[in-house]
Amino acid sequence: MNFQLTEEHLAVQEAAREFAQSELLPEVIERDTEARFPHEQIEKMGELGFMGMMVDPKYNGGGMDTISYCIAMEEISKIDASASVSMSVNNSLVCWGLEKYGSEAQKQKYLTRLASGEILGAFCLSEPEAGSDATSQKTSAELKGDHYILNGTKNWITNGSTASVYLVIAQTDASKAHKGISVFIVEKDWEGFVVGKKEDKLGIRGSDTHSLMFTDVIVPVENRIGEEGFGFTFAMETLNGGRIGIAAQALGIASGAYEMSLAYSKERKTFGKPISEHQAIQFKLADMATQIETARLLVHKAAWLKDQGEDYTLASAMAKVYASEVAMNVSVEAVQVHGGYGYVKEYHVERLMRDAKITQIYEGTSEIQRIVISRKILK
Ligand code: CAA
Repeated sequence: MNFQLTEEHLAVQEAAREFAQSELLPEVIERDTEARFPHEQIEKMGELGFMGMMVDPKYNGGGMDTISYCIAMEEISKIDASASVSMSVNNSLVCWGLEKYGSEAQKQKYLTRLASGEILGAFCLSEPEAGSDATSQKTSAELKGDHYILNGTKNWITNGSTASVYLVIAQTDASKAHKGISVFIVEKDWEGFVVGKKEDKLGIRGSDTHSLMFTDVIVPVENRIGEEGFGFTFAMETLNGGRIGIAAQALGIASGAYEMSLAYSKERKTFGKPISEHQAIQFKLADMATQIETARLLVHKAAWLKDQGEDYTLASAMAKVYASEVAMNVSVEAVQVHGGYGYVKEYHVERLMRDAKITQIYEGTSEIQRIVISRKILK
């Protein structure tokens, strides 16, 4: 057993930290207030290799392990969880899904551009009536010769208007329930594909969340990933890895809030001494540090299992449910440590508190993670 990060991991950490400080921190408050997508910053993240970190270099990826990806996600999320959700979806849902299950032609055509950050991808599973209950897909794809006709609506799609390529889950044979679900690669400019309203959100306001409408969109058969009926397994397998990314995001939100609280507690004085010398604050910091360390161990363990080729379904669900609850607890306490300053935008922690909430909801709510965990341990 070895808890030491390698030199490569430390280099990734340094690069991500430096990027977050120099490129994401300026204007992060303005982007949140104006719900403005970090276009320029995401472009630079692509240039630096953060958008396809685990993809094989032959498809323009970084060829790194999942631990490196989690380390980068943590550092980016300390400063800007809106940028990190785009990074997470592109890396662990879209690129991973395509690399693992796509055909060589699909990889050459789409993965090479997604991994380099030239274009962004989106993962389209959720629907107005199929969030947690993901098997209840209403979007349909009907085979007509050499193409499918795609119809339906997707909801809460990250990178909704900024993506160029969308992995769309749809029902191809309703009589087979979840075994009749398939997955398709859809391009944004295809006729009948409309990007719907942008959501006005509590947190991760700089991220680009939309509903999408498909009306008689013609999708060539060669854009189906895997066989017909493989779509639900594709979604579940992809989300198992995606959840490690979101757990790392939650960890980053928690560590960002903690680091700011630690620094602030040494500067702010009450009753004649820094608040870090009051036991009430010391205990809060101690709890934050302990929870963050525990979450990091779970996140890195899940990433390590994935890198070893072992089953990581249980570990990723545990990492996500725990890290997202830590993100919520720690960010609420960070606002409390900052007192009145914590309640205003300038001090960042109120934004981290708002951003933390979504980590308990997307890529499977905390309740869904508990279903996954309990089914595994009771098997
Ligand atoms: N890994 C692999 N396979 C899984 C799985 C997992 N974690 N969970 C379920 N499956 C498989 C089951 O083994 C089963 O396969 P078989 O039929 O071959 O045996 C199949 O999926 C159906 O599973 P269940 O019978 O258990 O179906 P269910 O309806 O009772 O429960 C669920 C399924 C686990 C609740 C699933 O619907 C689920 O995970 N829901 C949450 C969906 C989700 O995470 N959505 C997030 C949206 S994406 C997003 O947020 C991205 C973004 O933009 C940020």
